[in-house]
Parts: sequence; C-alpha cells; structure tokens
Amino acid sequence: MAFSDQFIQELKLNNPIDSVMSGYTNLIRRGRNSVCLCPFHSEKTPSCTVYHESNSFYCFGCGAGGDVITFVMKIENLDYVEAIRFLAARAGMTMPDDDPADSRNALIKSKILEINRTAARYFYDVLTRAPEGEKGRRYFADRQLSAKTITKYGLGYAPGDWYGLTNFMRSKGYGEEELIAADLCSRGRNGGLYDRFRDRVMFPIIDLRGNVIAFGGRVIDDGKPKYLNSSDTPVFKKSMNLFSLNFAKKSEEKRLILAEGYMDVISINQAGFENVVATLGTALTQEQARLMSRYAEEIIIAYDSDGAGQKATHKAINLLSEAGLKTRIIKMEGAKDPDEYIKKFGAMRFGQLLNKSGGAIEFELSKCRNGLDISTDEGRVEYLKRCVKLFADISSPIEREVYIGRVSDETKVSKEMLFQQVNGAIKKRIDQDKKREWTDIRTFQNELRKDPDAYRHSKEYKAETGILSFLAAYPEETEYVASKISPDDFVTDFNKKVYAAILKKSKISGFYDILSLQSEFTADEMGKITEIAVNSKDVNINKTAVNDFIKFLTDRADNSQDVNALSDDDFRSYFSGLKKKK
Ligand code: CTP
Ligand code: MN
Repeated sequence: MAFSDQFIQELKLNNPIDSVMSGYTNLIRRGRNSVCLCPFHSEKTPSCTVYHESNSFYCFGCGAGGDVITFVMKIENLDYVEAIRFLAARAGMTMPDDDPADSRNALIKSKILEINRTAARYFYDVLTRAPEGEKGRRYFADRQLSAKTITKYGLGYAPGDWYGLTNFMRSKGYGEEELIAADLCSRGRNGGLYDRFRDRVMFPIIDLRGNVIAFGGRVIDDGKPKYLNSSDTPVFKKSMNLFSLNFAKKSEEKRLILAEGYMDVISINQAGFENVVATLGTALTQEQARLMSRYAEEIIIAYDSDGAGQKATHKAINLLSEAGLKTRIIKMEGAKDPDEYIKKFGAMRFGQLLNKSGGAIEFELSKCRNGLDISTDEGRVEYLKRCVKLFADISSPIEREVYIGRVSDETKVSKEMLFQQVNGAIKKRIDQDKKREWTDIRTFQNELRKDPDAYRHSKEYKAETGILSFLAAYPEETEYVASKISPDDFVTDFNKKVYAAILKKSKISGFYDILSLQSEFTADEMGKITEIAVNSKDVNINKTAVNDFIKFLTDRADNSQDVNALSDDDFRSYFSGLKKKK
C-alpha cells in the first residue's frame, strides 16, 4: 500500500530511531552518534552505530541497517505495512485508509488466520461435544485437565478419519491452496486433500494479538512422532513465538517460568501460575530470549530433570543472559518434569520450588562437581579448573568474589591463587572474542565479495556505488544525475534496481530519502543500501568524481568493446583522490 511521503515523514519524526531502538538494546552516546550491541547478531563489543542526524542505524558486524521502519520490520519480523502500523500505534497516529489491493501478502495472512481460527473451533467442538471426541476427552481427563483449562487454552481433538477437518473446511467454502498454505491439509498421491493432524489432541498456538497462528498435536497412545507441529507458514515462525505468552504477558510478575513442553505449561498454569511459557518443539532461540526480555527481568528455568533437560538448561542460561536476563533454575527432585511434580506434590510445593530456585551460577557450580570426588587431589584439581572457567564468565565482580570465596573455603586453595587464575582466563577470553568478531566481520565482507555480479564487474560496481553514495549525500542533485545516466547504463542488477527506485521516487514526490525504499526492497537489501548511505558520509564524493563515474558507465554502454577504457590505475587514482579529500 502506498503511504504519502508526508505521512511517512511524520511517522519517523514521531518515532526517533534512538527511542525505538533503546527498547531492544542499550544505546551509548558517542559524540553525534550512538553505539550499541547489535540486536541482530550476537556480540560482546558494540559494532552497531545509530546516526541520530539521519535517523538510521548500521551494523558494521553483520550489515544490518536502515531507518526506523526497516529496524522494526527486522526485529519484529513484520512486513512493510505491518511495521508502519506498529510505529503508528506506538506514536498514537491514525493510519491512512488501508487499500487491501496493494497488500496481497496481508490478505493471505489474514485468510490463514481465519482458517486457523475456524479449525481451532472445529477441534474444540469435536473434543467437547462430538461422539468421536470421546478418546480426546478421556485423554485429558487422565491428565487431570479441568474443563476450565481446556476452554482457556482452546484445546481440541482431531479425529482419526483422515477427512474430518478437510470436509468441514470445504463445507465452509475454503479453498484447497489456502488449506495447504495453513499447513492443516496435505495433498495425497491421488491429488485429493487429507487432514494433517489425525487422532491427536490439539494445542492451538496463540500470538500476543490473540490470533491462532499454528497447532501442536499430541498422539493419544505411543505413536510417532509424539508431537506434530505446524511448519512455518506466512503467519508462523516457530523460532519467534512462545507457547502461552498471550497469558503470561498479562501477569503482574516480573519473572517468567520457562518450561519444556505444552503439557508442562498447561499444568503449571492450571496450578495457578500464569507467568509460564515454552518454546515450540525446538531449542530456545535468541529471538525468543529477546521476546521474553520485553516482559520480564528474570526467567526461572523449569526444564525436565533428565540429562537432555539439564543440557538444554545450560544452553538456555547462556542465551538468556546474552539477552540481559537474570536466570534462576529450579531443582526438581522426585519427578521428571513440572507436570509430574505438581501431580505428585501439589501446587504449593511447586511454588516453594520456584522460590527456592538458585541462580545460574549455583546451577553451573553444582554441575562442575558432577562425577568428581573432591576428597581426592585429582578430583579437586579438575573441579578447580572447571570453576575457574565458569567464574571467568561471570560479569559482575562482586558475584565473582563471592563464589571464589566459597570455592576457596571448600577446597582450601587460597583466594589469591584463584583470582589470578580467573583473571588470566578472562584475559584469554577477551582476546578470543575479539578475534571471533573480526572473523565475523571478515566473513561478512567475503559474503559481499561473493556477490557474483559485483565481482565480475568490479569497476562498474565501484562506479555505480559511487554514484549512489553521491545521491545519498546530495539528493538535490538527482535531477542532474538523471539527465546524464539512465538505469539501463548500470551493469550490476542490485545497483540498477536501487538507482531506478531512486529516480522513480524522486519523480513522484520530488523528494526522497534513500533509506525509505522499504516497499521495494527486503530488510536485508535495505542493509546494503544503508551501507552505501553510511559510506557516503565517510567518502565525500564530489561532482567531478561523479561525472567521471557517469562517463565511465555511459561510454561503456556506447561502445561495449571499450570496456577497459579506464585502466585499473585510473580507478585507483579516483579512489585515492577521494580518500585524500576526506
Ligand atoms: N516435542 C516435539 N516433537 C516431539 C517431541 C517433543 O515437538 N516429537 C516438543 C513439544 O513442544 C513438547 C516438548 O517438545 O511439548 C517437550 O517434549 P516432552 O517433554 O516429550 O512433551 P510434554 O509437553 O512434556 O508432553 P507429555 O507430558 O505429554 O509427554
Ligand atoms: Mn515432558
């Protein structure tokens, strides 16, 4: 959908990039700009810059960049129109009238959401009142779920006859392609559709706006797979959502309980704890950790007590602390998971377990002792080695001191000795991190170099990029440049597309901002465009240089044998000339 430039300008004015970004990461002022840890990749030293003047950001580590709209598209995983809506709501602005014809994507999404809602209703009705729902009713009764809980979560049952949902949805007038896109039906070898979820109890997954975005279905007996989950669809990305966050976000608690499975969450919730969530059949992701950090300051991990659960706990602790969250870990004895614990010992004891839960260091420390006999010298040495490694990871010096003291008492090794070892390990870690970040940056640059188009036409690519940088810095020169060179004279596809978009935009509105081309470019492409804009601040390209670039490209087009009209040396001198100007 097309928004007026005036609306977009106002929207950006009301949503300064620093105030939006500081909801996701900590900005540190450095002169005219700010820097921050990049919210789009994992790093320990900030390589993301926020340019207050141009209301944009660029990460030198991963190449993400753009204006506030691109930022929201990327971090909230929204399309262009959704991002505008998000920012408009944030600033209390009214959206101009939507024109659905412009947004096929939004249409498909809303169709799938409607299908999901209808399907959830169907599964629920089968579970709660149809004769063929008896199996499901018995199952949930066995697991001691109340009618209230079943209704609250909208649980359901998918009958086993292959066509229950398919026929129902057809009778409601939904088309085959839509049902497949929602991942509720599959196409059989004979070309007909059949139900994807059969003879399973159903768990609808609901997002923060109350939409049914996907389903998990559990077998009733011991069939395989135990859980079947919707694959990613236009409305669902499993790595970005959490089960039951729609309830948990309403809780007053500043802490969230993170469990492993649907049934644990529902059990814990039924026991009176609203603030519980789970991932959706995969390990915890960075996005999910960030999502939680918007609703809580502390996460209590309540994973299964088996080996797999403890391993997952260790990984989750790291991800969560990277997202700036404090973690506590419950220590469950006598039950394999929270669901079983609550059944055996009751809600009150589970509540005590939560309050008794130890910090992350406590958890890791007790793991260090695993399999060791600390009364032997050998055991103690190994234990101390593990502790030193662990303590080097603690960022708070006070905490470090406390735990070093404790281990010193325990092992009778002096505090000073332990400090020395830990400091050595910290220094080594910092060096390694630096090295890794550099490798990351280098990989990214190689990635760019791998753009076959740019590589094959590297001179043209440089000339084109020079022109685009110039236009980013001096939009008022667009008419001049446009009169000299047409997009067809550009050789590499991406630059050609950018130049054409700039010309189109300036023709329509007489005004453009190189960072507001989101309706035509993906968020990743916007990163590349931002890189050009950022470079234009560093390398001040003047009109003479631009004329040379233009001449090079147009000459080349006039006389294609004359590709090498400019030698490498000519080029080198252009660019060194530019650098000297700086
Ligand atoms: N899971 C999955 N696919 C499987 C097994 C598990 O997607 N084949 C996911 C589900 O999201 C499940 C979670 O991993 O909820 C944890 O697995 P598990 O502990 O086996 O499931 P519970 O939810 O605890 O279910 P139950 O108590 O019925 O075993
Ligand atoms: Mn379980």
